[in-house]
Amino acid sequence: MAAQPTITISKTTSPATGVAVVFVDQDNNPGPAARALFESLSGTVERAIAATTFKGKAQSMLDIVAPAGSTLDRVIVVGMGAVGEFDATAALKLGGVVMGKIKETKAQAVTILLERPGSEALDPVLAAEFALGLRLRSYEWSRHKTRKKDDAETPAARINLAVEDAAKVKKTWGEAAEVAAGVELARDLVNEAPNILGPVEFAEAAEKLESVGLEVEILTDKDMKKLGMGALLGVAQGSVRPARLAIMRWNGSKSKDKPIAFVGKGVVFDTGGISIKPGQGMEDMKGDMGGAAAVIGLMRALAGRKAKVNAIGILGLVENMPDGNAYRPGDILTSMSGQTIEIINTDAEGRLVLADALWYCQDRFKPAFMVNLATLTGACMVALGTQHAGLFSNDDELADRLYKAGQASGERVWRLPLGPDYDKLIDSRFADMKNTGGRYGGAITAAQFLKRFVNDTPWAHLDVAGTAMASPDSEINRSWGSGFGVRLLDRLVRDAYEG
Ligand code: BES
Ligand code: MN
Ligand code: ZN
Repeated sequence: MAAQPTITISKTTSPATGVAVVFVDQDNNPGPAARALFESLSGTVERAIAATTFKGKAQSMLDIVAPAGSTLDRVIVVGMGAVGEFDATAALKLGGVVMGKIKETKAQAVTILLERPGSEALDPVLAAEFALGLRLRSYEWSRHKTRKKDDAETPAARINLAVEDAAKVKKTWGEAAEVAAGVELARDLVNEAPNILGPVEFAEAAEKLESVGLEVEILTDKDMKKLGMGALLGVAQGSVRPARLAIMRWNGSKSKDKPIAFVGKGVVFDTGGISIKPGQGMEDMKGDMGGAAAVIGLMRALAGRKAKVNAIGILGLVENMPDGNAYRPGDILTSMSGQTIEIINTDAEGRLVLADALWYCQDRFKPAFMVNLATLTGACMVALGTQHAGLFSNDDELADRLYKAGQASGERVWRLPLGPDYDKLIDSRFADMKNTGGRYGGAITAAQFLKRFVNDTPWAHLDVAGTAMASPDSEINRSWGSGFGVRLLDRLVRDAYEG
C-alpha cells in the first residue's frame, strides 16, 4: 500500500508539472481555469475529447497524456454532469471517484482545478465536500499486511486542490477534515481483529480522545455490578475479557440546556454465546461493535471541529462467548432499571447491552434525546439491505431530523414501526420480558425491547447491521468497515442542535 496522500488547498494556479485534473459539464464546457489550461496545450485536450464519445457525464473521465513539449504528465478531464444538480452528495462522490483514479494511476503530484463550469463560482461548501470525498476514498486498512503490495515504495500522492475562494474552502475543509478523522477512527475499529480489540482496548481508544478535548470516564465490570447492570454483565460473563462502559463528554456549549446523547452497541465479538452461531461467516462478528465505533467517531468529530453543543457518548463494551460461566437460555437477568429479562436466545445480546447503557444514560444525564446505534439484527438487513439503516423512534421530530440528515449526508435511514401489538410479543411468562420476540418482525421486536429502557426520553434506535460493515463498495469507501453513522449524526448535530 502506498502511503496516505496529502491534501492541500490553494488558490487557483496553472499547474506546470504532474497530473492536472479539470472539470467539464455535460456538454463538455470547461470552467475558466480548465479553459486556460486547454489553451496552453494548444488543442490537444479538445482533440482528445472530439476523438472519443466523452460527454462530461457525472463521474465519467477522460485520461489524456500531455503532448510532447508540455511539462505536464497528463490531464484528466472529469465530468461534473449538469452543474445545477451538483449538490453536496454529488461533490462528495465526485471527490471519491477522482481519488479512485489518482490511486489507480499512481499519480504523485496532482493539481485539481476544481471549479464550476459556467458563470457562477463554485460554492466553497461543495469544494470542501469534494475534499472530504477525496480523503474518505483514500482510506486503506492494511495494519496487518506484512507483505506489502508492489507499490509499497510509491511515495504518497501530493494533491493540491486549487479553488477560487481558497480561504473559505480551507476553513470549511478544516472542519470536514475533523469529521473525516472521526470516520477513519470508526473504520479502523470496525476493521480491527477481535483478538486485538477487546472491551478494555476499546475503552482505551476512548480514553485516548482526551487528547482532543473529550472528558472520558471508564466504568469497569465492578463499577457496573454496583450499579446493578445485570443485563450487560450477563452477556459479558462468558468471556475472560471483562466488560467496560465508556462515557465520553464533549462540552462545546456554554448553554445550560440538557445535553444530547449517543449510545453504541460495542460487542467486540459475537459468537452468539451458548446459542452459538453457525461457523460460516462468523468472523464478520468482529464488526458487532459498529454502533460503538460510530459513537466514538462522532465524538472525535464533534471535539475536533469544536462543535457548539454539549454531547454525551456512551459505549457498552462486551464480548459474547460460550463458556462454563456463560449466561444461558432460561436465565433471568435483572437490569439496572429493575426490570427482569428472561433469556430465550443468548445471541440476542446487543439489546441486553443497550438496555443498561440506555437506562444509565437517561438516569444520569437526563439528555434532551438519546440516539443509539447497533448492529442489532439480521432481520433489519433482510428488510432494508445495505443502503439504509433501520430507524425506530418514540419521537416524530427526532425521527424526521434523522431522516433529513440521512438524505443530506448520503448515510440514509428508513423508519420502521413500533407499537403495542409488537410490544406484546416480548412479554414473558417468567419475567417482565423476554429477549426475543419470535420469527416475525425481528428488527421491530428488538427495537420494542430497547424502548422499555428509555423511560420517557425522546429516543431513536438505528439498526446498522446492514450498513456498518461488509457494505458494498461505494465512491467514498472501499474498506470493510464503513464508519456509517459518523457523518449522519454529525449532520444531525450541525443542522438541528448547534449554535
Ligand atoms: N450481531 C447480531 C446481528 C447481526 C447479524 C449483525 C449479521 C450484523 C450482521 C445480533 O447480535 C444477533 O445475533 N441477532 C440475532 C437476533 C435473534 C437471535 C433474535 C439475529 O439477528 O439473528
Ligand atoms: Mn448476537
Ligand atoms: Zn450481536
